[in-house]
Amino acid sequence: MILGFIGTGHMGSSIARALHQQGIHRFLLNNRTKAKAIAIKEEFGADAEVAPLEEIAAQADIIFVGVKPTDMDDVLRALPAHHGIIVSMAAGVSLQEIAEVLPNSRIIRILPNTPVVVGAGITLATFDGSFTPEEKEAFFGLMSPTGRMIEVGEDKLNPGGVITGSAPAYLDYFIDALAEAGVNMGLSKEEATEYVLHMCRGAVDLALSSTKSPRQLGDEVCSPGGSTIEGVKVLLERDLYGLVRDAAIATYQKNKKMR
Ligand SMILES: NC(=O)c1ccc[n+]([C@@H]2O[C@H](COP(=O)([O-])OP(=O)(O)OC[C@H]3O[C@@H](n4cnc5c(N)ncnc54)[C@H](OP(=O)(O)O)[C@@H]3O)[C@@H](O)[C@H]2O)c1
Repeated sequence: MILGFIGTGHMGSSIARALHQQGIHRFLLNNRTKAKAIAIKEEFGADAEVAPLEEIAAQADIIFVGVKPTDMDDVLRALPAHHGIIVSMAAGVSLQEIAEVLPNSRIIRILPNTPVVVGAGITLATFDGSFTPEEKEAFFGLMSPTGRMIEVGEDKLNPGGVITGSAPAYLDYFIDALAEAGVNMGLSKEEATEYVLHMCRGAVDLALSSTKSPRQLGDEVCSPGGSTIEGVKVLLERDLYGLVRDAAIATYQKNKKMR
């Protein structure tokens, strides 16, 4: 398969790297600042070339467009007619908007997240009406080195993308804040960060393998009259749920204005 990548920034290059591990595809790479595409080409060796949009449109079976939503119009209008599949990562740019500019292409929208770099991403995907169940399955197979793939309706893509695509940043800040709390209690930042990261991984693995909800598992840690509930009470008194909800809504609203 020939895979085109237009926009080899953080997300485009992460997905290209994950797919390159399969060792069976050819990559045509294009980035506004050419040096970024050249760097990936050098990493991939003979499997990749830096190519103009014309060549990508003519040859690629699938074109991944990894530019910011504000740059989507420029790219879509500059891309010559393409008769393959366009995979857009841009939050807030609808299937219909893309189809209006590229009527000959079939379109998939995806919202990946940064853990795709280590094959542990979650990517939400929505397909235009032309894809059969077998074609969707084949696309998920192609993307499997990036992590979990989930098909959603287009209306779920933006809210889902907030809590999968943007929220890794919230969690990273929470991890750092908890590590800082450890420093306040006498740990070094390095050891506190290591403890918190492993705690998070364990808590998530437990929640994923359990039939209980995360809230039930949290309640089980809070023995009545014990020490954990004292900490949880502080989080709830300071409106943890409201704070997180407001953060997610702020991201969601901004996504809607990003064009
Ligand atoms: N990062 C995430 O966690 C995440 C999660 C979900 C979805 N996404 C989506 O993924 C897309 C990319 O995000 P990102 O974080 O990877 O951004 P990024 O690192 O800024 O990458 C965007 C790349 O697009 C290139 N570009 C811009 N205009 C171009 C053009 N006309 N032709 C070719 N290349 C062009 C930029 O080139 P320059 O080097 O010249 O700037 C840059 O390398 C966005 O639509 C974003 O909404 C990102």
